[in-house]
Amino acid sequence: MMDNEKIIHILKDHEGRFVSGEIISREVGITRAAIWKRISALKSMGYVIDARQNMGYRLMRSPDILTPEEIQYRLGTKIVGSEVRYYPVLESTNAEAFRVATEGGKDGLVIVTDHQTGGKGRLNRTWFSFRRQSLSLSIVLRPKIVPYVATMLTYMAGIALYETIYALTAVKPSIKWPNDILMSGKKVAGVLCELNTETDVVNFAVIGLGINLNVRKNKFPAEIRDASTSIYEETKKRVKRVTFVKELLRQFDYWYGVFLRDGGDSRILAEWKERADIVGKDVKIRSFNEEIEGEVVDVDPNGALVVQTKEGEKKRVIAGDLETVVLPEG
Ligand code: BTN
Repeated sequence: MMDNEKIIHILKDHEGRFVSGEIISREVGITRAAIWKRISALKSMGYVIDARQNMGYRLMRSPDILTPEEIQYRLGTKIVGSEVRYYPVLESTNAEAFRVATEGGKDGLVIVTDHQTGGKGRLNRTWFSFRRQSLSLSIVLRPKIVPYVATMLTYMAGIALYETIYALTAVKPSIKWPNDILMSGKKVAGVLCELNTETDVVNFAVIGLGINLNVRKNKFPAEIRDASTSIYEETKKRVKRVTFVKELLRQFDYWYGVFLRDGGDSRILAEWKERADIVGKDVKIRSFNEEIEGEVVDVDPNGALVVQTKEGEKKRVIAGDLETVVLPEG
C-alpha cells in the first residue's frame, strides 16, 4: 500500500473520530510533519478532514472519487478489484485494459476512469459517456476456458449489473438480449466483452461496463435520448459512483466465482435466463445480414438463442440486435 492509501484507510477506520498524529506516524512509518503534508494533499482531493492540535485528525467526509484507495477500502473481494487503476480521462477503458492485459495484467484487474473520449459499444457503435456522471470501467479476466464459453462471461456481467442495480435502488431492471440492462424499457447500462483468443483457448477477456448513473436525460444526444435512461432519472436519487463501483465489483467477484466453479456454464446460464425472461417471447432479430423472426424456444448452452421461425425452422442466433419483443397474447 502507498502511504496515502494507508493514511486514508486509518482515517476511515476511525471515521468521525480523532486519530492522533502519533498513531498515524507509527503505523505508516513517516514523520508527523510528513503526515501534515499528506493531509493537506488529501484535503485538496476533496477529503474533509478536521485537524486539531493535541487531538490529531478526524475524517468527516470522503469525496466521490474512483481512486484505488477509495474503491479497495474494505472491498472484500477475492479476485475482482485486487488491482485497480484509475485515470481522470481515457479514450476507452476497454482499449486500456486490453493493452494492460496484453502486457500481463492480472486476473481481476480493474481500469476505471472519470471520463471516456472514445467509448466503444457493441457492434462497432459509439458509447457515450459523461464526465463523472457515467461510470466506465473494464475488468481483465483470465479464466481457463475455450472460446465458445466466453459468451457466458458477458451473461455473467449482465447478472452482476442487474444485481448491483437491484441492490442499490430496490428496483428490478431487466436484461435485453444479449446484454443491455434496461429500466422502464430504456437502456441504463451495457456490456462490451472483448477477447484475446487462440483457436482453442482464451488468453484473456476484457469486460467493459458502461452505466448511465447520474446522467440527466437532456445530456443524452438526440439520437439515443428516447431509448436511454439513467439510474438517477429512474429513481431521482444520486448514487455515489464509488458506492456503485464497489457493489458492482463485489457482485462481479461473486458471480465470477460461480462461473469458475461451474466450469462456466449451467448455473450462469440458468441465472441469466431467469433475469432475461426471453424464452417464450416473439422476437425480431437483425443478425449480420439476416432478419430472423419467431419465438425464442430456448437459450442453448453456448448462449445462443434458439428461435423457432414461422416456417417451422429452428435457428441459432449468437449475435445481433433484438428489434422488438412482442409479448405473446393472453
Ligand atoms: C453496449 O451496450 O453496446 C456496450 C457498451 C459498453 C460501454 C463500456 S464503457 C466502459 C468500457 N469501455 C468502452 O469503450 N466500452 C465499455
